[in-house]
Formats: sequence, structure tokens, C-alpha cells
Amino acid sequence: MQIKIENGAVAFPFSIKINSVTGKMDDYDTHIERFLSTLVSIFSDPDAAEDFIEKNGDTLAYEVYEKNIPEVNGEIRFCSSITYPGKIGNEYFMTKGHFHSRLDTAEIYYCIRGNGCILMEKKDGNPILEDMYPGRVVYVPGYYAHRSINIGDEPLISLPAYPGDAGHDYKSIEDNGFRHIVVEKNGKPALLENPRYGRMGK
Ligand code: PA5
Ligand code: NI
Repeated sequence: MQIKIENGAVAFPFSIKINSVTGKMDDYDTHIERFLSTLVSIFSDPDAAEDFIEKNGDTLAYEVYEKNIPEVNGEIRFCSSITYPGKIGNEYFMTKGHFHSRLDTAEIYYCIRGNGCILMEKKDGNPILEDMYPGRVVYVPGYYAHRSINIGDEPLISLPAYPGDAGHDYKSIEDNGFRHIVVEKNGKPALLENPRYGRMGK
């Protein structure tokens, strides 16, 4: 089914199904796959990421299925976001993370499967970690960078939804990273300062 657009907006109601085991969206328009080889620099120990790839081959860390809903005020964009279990050293697999291009736009994440968290940070503020498990909804206010982190041993599947005109600003996270990282310590997730904060791109 192709979404019909009139005057730049969705013209007809529609519905889709997200498989609650795999996270795959029926009838999606766009499928993004992020392999570790493209994510080496998001980890606090990029050398460990290179070693992981050398030993295990390139590995799918997360993927996204989405409908092409117009990126305009008034529409709601949503997707299925699937982050796979795994670790680079002690650091869990995670999404790149971003600010919204329109900084004042919020987002919700509805967790369908798995065990993880959403790390949120304002440009100058403290980190907030919210748990994700099936049935849980996380509200990400405007001005917060956000990323999904899988701390479990099965896929972390969620349905993020955000204003059509929010946009994704990856640049500042690519350059600086988040101020904090989530690692496994004594068998549990722990929030630590990011030793590479401010020089992730280097
Ligand atoms: O808009 C969102 O926050 C999500 O849909 C993410 O885009 C998705 O989880 C993938 O993460 P990222 O955009 O950081 O690659
Ligand atoms: Ni977002």
C-alpha cells in the first residue's frame, strides 16, 4: 500500500502491523540497517569495535523500518526500531542517537520486546536513563538527545513516534558523542562518564 499524499499531508487513514517477535513492519517504505563497521566511532573503545568485527565479521547492530510519512508539521512519523543484543567490551550495542533538528520537538518510545533503556541528555544537562521493557512508554522531551541501548539478550524492539517536522540531527553526536556511556559492570548496567566525550569524531 502506497501512502496517498494530498496537499503535502497523508490523505487517507491506514494501519500497519509490526511483528512483535522480529520487529519487522509489514508494508514498510524504508528499511535502514546499521552494521558495526559503520558504527565503530560511536563506541567509547573503537579499537575494541574493530577487534570485534575482525573476530565475528561485520554484525548488524540495529535496524529501522518506517513508513514515508511527510516530514511536515501536523503529521506523526513512526517506525519500528530494533537494536540487537551484544557488547563491544563492556559497552552495550546501541543506536547512533541524535538531537532533533527542530530541538523543541518531543518523541515517545513504546517498547514491544526486550530489555534496555533510553539514554537522554540535554546539551549541557545531566543524563537521564529510562528503562525499556514490553509495555513501557518513554517520553523524550524536546531538547534531549536520545539513543536506545540493549542491555538484554534478545532484540530490543520499540515503536518511536515523533512530530513530522522534527528531523534528525546526527552531527553533534557524531562529533562529540554523549557525555555518558552505559556499560555492564558486575553483571548490571552502569552509567559512566564517556572518556571520549568531545572528540568522538577524531
Ligand atoms: O527518531 C528516533 O528517535 C528513532 O526512530 C531512531 O531514529 C531509531 O531508533 C534509530 O536510531 P538513530 O536515529 O539514532 O540511528
Ligand atoms: Ni528521535
